[in-house]
Amino acid sequence: MIIEPKVREFICTTAHPEGCRENVKQQIAYVKAQNIKKGPKKVLVIGASTGYGLASRITAGFGCEAATIGIFFEKPSNGKRTATPGWYNTAAFEEEAHKAGIYAKSINGDAFSCEIKEKTIDLIKKDWGKADMVIYSLAAPRRTDKNGNLWVSSLKTTKEAFTEKSLDLRNNTIVEKTVEPAKPEEIQGTKKVMGGEDWMEWIEALKDADVIEENALTVAYSYIGPELTYPIYFDGTIGQAKRHLENTAKVMREKFPKLQAYVSVNKALVTQASAAIPIVPLYFAILYKVMKEVGNHEGCIEQISRLFKEKLFKESVPTDAEGRIRMDDWELSEEVQRKVVEAWKQVTTENVTEISDIEGYWEDFYQMFGFHLAGVDYTKDVDMEVKIPSID
Ligand code: NAI
Repeated sequence: MIIEPKVREFICTTAHPEGCRENVKQQIAYVKAQNIKKGPKKVLVIGASTGYGLASRITAGFGCEAATIGIFFEKPSNGKRTATPGWYNTAAFEEEAHKAGIYAKSINGDAFSCEIKEKTIDLIKKDWGKADMVIYSLAAPRRTDKNGNLWVSSLKTTKEAFTEKSLDLRNNTIVEKTVEPAKPEEIQGTKKVMGGEDWMEWIEALKDADVIEENALTVAYSYIGPELTYPIYFDGTIGQAKRHLENTAKVMREKFPKLQAYVSVNKALVTQASAAIPIVPLYFAILYKVMKEVGNHEGCIEQISRLFKEKLFKESVPTDAEGRIRMDDWELSEEVQRKVVEAWKQVTTENVTEISDIEGYWEDFYQMFGFHLAGVDYTKDVDMEVKIPSID
């Protein structure tokens, strides 16, 4: 059938298998051209199907020729609805990896559960012996913990209500949006879902089962962003969760002294997770415009291949005073932020297309779901039921 995008505010409810394949292929081609050289051999990627996790899997697989096991939570097609983009991305990734003789297997299920941790451990034992790198790139709205408690993540402030300009994604107009303060249980819920507890549980489970090298590298992704978005991000519920994640890296290093545990603070980019944060999409659209003009705009694959090439596998990993790797260095540079603030003050519905890269924002958005990719014939019939080779 012919698949078209169906956009509802910050989500697209369809995905295009051929477009997702093209997207993965373009990322593979980019990574191969980077000549990364040094890297890991056996990499477990938790949250491997879209955004930063997919870029990490592609960088490990095609930049370093590493074997990868990818964990994610995606839906296959049921014959009526398309699969989710992460499903199609993974099918394409595995096919390309197998063609290139690179090991790639995947597990679809709830990474927070004991069942998926056990399944992963069994697979590592059977096929690898031990993993030498674990990338933690989950972005989830809720988590059932190992005791059966359900936690829900929120995107709210932790102090007073916050009102700012925002992009109404339904019609590209500039509106004012108020984000309400969180109740204590919402802060706690966000920390439980997006903080470091589950990352630690993964590492402990892998250690207990003896399926991770003693000096393995583990990396989780965080975000800080500019002062402009502090009330909703850095000082908001999600920021509290990220501080917990960052602290978990420290706790891990103390508990397992030979383990190299890092948090990488990445750049703001349109992904399924970030498009849902209020106020932030307008910042993205302005940031894209400024960084493209300055000449240092990056997408997920550029960020992660730079992380591998220039940070993770150096003699000593460069970090800030808090021990974090800063991939947001270019985003937070004085020049970029000064220009972002100037544009933010000026932006209105009338001038939003000139002042911000709203077109670039939407191009990234559509491409996440496999649409608007050059070289794909969207008028052709496609089969939406696609198999991931390693999943029955
Ligand atoms: P994303 O939405 O593209 O990817 C999330 C991944 O998690 C997908 O592979 C999804 O299948 C998987 N997932 C979600 N719930 C799951 C579950 N219960 N079990 C198994 N897999 C599950 O998100 P994105 O943006 O790539 O985020 C990844 C990490 O990077 C997050 O920690 C996020 O905070 C961080 N980050 C994102 C930035 C951005 O601007 N997008 C900036 C800096 C950090």
